This record gives sequence, C-alpha cells and structure tokens, in this order.
Amino acid sequence: MARERAFVLRHGRLRPVPGLESIRLHLADEVLPLWHAVQVETADPDAALPYWAFAWGGGLGVAHYLREHPEAVAGRRVFDFASGSGLCAIAALQAGAATATAADIDVFAAAAIELNARANGRRVSVVRRDVLDDPPPDAEVILAGDCWYEATLAERVMPWLRRARDAGIDVLVGDPGRRYMPTAELIQLATYDVRTTTELEDLDRKQGHVYTLASTATTSPSREPGPG
Ligand SMILES: C[S@@+](CC[C@H](N)C(=O)[O-])C[C@H]1O[C@@H](n2cnc3c(N)ncnc32)[C@H](O)[C@@H]1O
Repeated sequence: MARERAFVLRHGRLRPVPGLESIRLHLADEVLPLWHAVQVETADPDAALPYWAFAWGGGLGVAHYLREHPEAVAGRRVFDFASGSGLCAIAALQAGAATATAADIDVFAAAAIELNARANGRRVSVVRRDVLDDPPPDAEVILAGDCWYEATLAERVMPWLRRARDAGIDVLVGDPGRRYMPTAELIQLATYDVRTTTELEDLDRKQGHVYTLASTATTSPSREPGPG
C-alpha cells in the first residue's frame, strides 16, 4: 500500500472540491496521462481507469445532499460503496456520521481514500474487495455514488442495495444520468448542479441526482430487471 500511496501523492494534487470547498481531495487534471501512468506502474495494460483521482457527478450529488441534509447520516454508521476518492464517506463524516467505511476494488482507490480522509482530518475504514456477493454490511446507511456507468456493475449493484434496504439499511444513491441507472424503483430526493470536468464528461456541469430506494411496500414483488 505504501507504493500506491506514493503514487497517489505523486499524481494527485490536494485541492478543494469545486462547489464543496470544505472537502479536499487528491485530484488529477487529466485522465489519459494518469491512466497511462497506472498502466506503467502496474505493468498492466488493462489496469482500471483512475476513477479515484476525480470527484464524479453521482458522488458529488450525494455530497451536496449530505451537506444540506446532515440528519440523513448524523450519528449513524455509514458504508460508502464504490468510494473512489472517498468523497461520499468524507462528506458523511463532515455531516456528523459516527463512522464511515469505504469499499472499492481498486488498490489505488484504497490508498486515495486513506490519504483523502487524513487530509480532511477524518478516519475512514477501507474494505478493498468486491462486496456485492456479501450480505448487507454492518451499517445504518449505504451511499452509492456513480455506480451505473457500465452494465455489468449496474446489474449487480441494485440487487445488493435491495437486500440492504430489506435489511433495514437506508440507501442513498447519486447519479448524473448514466445510461444503466434504473430510475423506476428509485425515489428522487434532490438534484444539484455539480461541477465536473470535460476530461470525464461531455460537459463540465452535470445534474447530480440523489435517490433513495422505494420501500418494499411500494415496489412490486418481482423487481429483477427484465429484458429491454
Ligand atoms: C465512477 S467511480 C465513483 C467514485 C465515487 N463514488 C464518486 O462518485 O466520486 C466508480 C468506482 O467504483 C469502483 N468499483 C467498480 N466496481 C466495484 C465493485 N464491484 N465493488 C466496489 N467498487 C467498485 C471503481 O473502482 C471506482 O472507484
């Protein structure tokens, strides 16, 4: 992990998140040179995109929501799924969460989350593995920012979030209108004008929508996605 931490420090610049200046993250300006550096560092031409070096539209939506609605997490145990930079976990702690755990499969994300938490004077526990086949985590609130950008991940996230919701865990989801986002069973709570970057998106402003999962009582018994 020391090597990954050194890599994040070398390639990210600690700076306030645009529009959420109370949060500082190690962020990059350009995605392709950094992706190339990750490929060289890992000697893996298929290395994952450095998601952790950017604050994504979905996570920004959740972070704005928590600033406006700290009661959603205050005093509660929070689990930030697909945490990337740790943005949502850090926003939750700033809003008064009792504890925050962040999960991400990327070893560089794990390093970035630790460094970013420390840069904000916070402590985030990091789970560096795929939790989507696990039972719901030991948490009272799950945050999931920007997880619907690819079909395979999107298909697995919602069943896991449903199981968590059915186990009594509150779920807050952030999404900037990604293609694989199944909005039908979600209840929209808020929308924020979030500042992102044309390195990642078509526009440097996006709508960060925040949703919760409808309760079991208000959704139909058959909720697995069907064809089309
Ligand atoms: C678009 S980024 C979002 C990061 C952060 N939530 C935000 O909004 O800024 C998606 C993140 O999901 C992570 N990821 C992908 N598949 C995952 C899985 N099965 N379990 C945990 N994290 C995963 C990626 O490594 C990446 O950091």
